[in-house]
Amino acid sequence: MKICIINGSPRRGGNTEEVLKPFRRRLAELGAQVDDVFLADYKIEPCVECYTCQDVQGEYGCVQKDDAEEIWRRAGEADLLVLAAPIFSWYCPSHMKALLDRHYALNKYYRSATGQLIPKLTVALLTTHGYKADYANDPFETGIRRLCKHCHWDYAGLYSVRDVDGMPDMQTPEAIEGAKRFAEELFEKMNVSRETL
Ligand SMILES: Cc1cc2nc3c(=O)[nH]c(=O)nc-3n(C[C@H](O)[C@H](O)[C@H](O)COP(=O)(O)O)c2cc1C
Repeated sequence: MKICIINGSPRRGGNTEEVLKPFRRRLAELGAQVDDVFLADYKIEPCVECYTCQDVQGEYGCVQKDDAEEIWRRAGEADLLVLAAPIFSWYCPSHMKALLDRHYALNKYYRSATGQLIPKLTVALLTTHGYKADYANDPFETGIRRLCKHCHWDYAGLYSVRDVDGMPDMQTPEAIEGAKRFAEELFEKMNVSRETL
């Protein structure tokens, strides 16, 4: 199974990266092939709402010449896309939001072009946040659920860890075990959904 993990934290060695460590390790133990994207290393410009992509058949067709097409190509090659992010202002950091906006070119819904460049994908969330889990995560999770519905993708769930005192909160046995369990749950879910194809 191929898994693409996009870490949207601007901070290398930050909380989100720390929670990803046991999660990624467990996925590798289970035999998954993981493609890691540290999004801040890439150039992702905002959508300029020109709708050019909606007249380009069979290709991404965006006027922005940056790394968004490559990242979406890598996501589309995976069975499971994990969006890992610190919650920023009740959503994800802005460069990840820019990437999410740029999903537009994947779906030819609005003008002469037709079809979808990624017709099948499962998406899961892993977040870290300062506020209590539901209060912190609800808007982002709701947005991603709706994005999945809009793209005809499956949404597989969320794992999150609260940051009260920084890094030590990411390193508790509970946080680590939770991350491993989430990896196992996703792996199981993906294998079950493959068997029922
Ligand atoms: C600009 C900014 C905005 C934030 N907004 C929120 C927020 O809306 N809700 C929340 O629970 N935590 C918020 N936080 C806290 C971060 O989500 C939290 O510290 C996270 O663990 C940082 O992860 P990182 O080290 O991987 O970047 C914010 C932090 C920053 C720097």
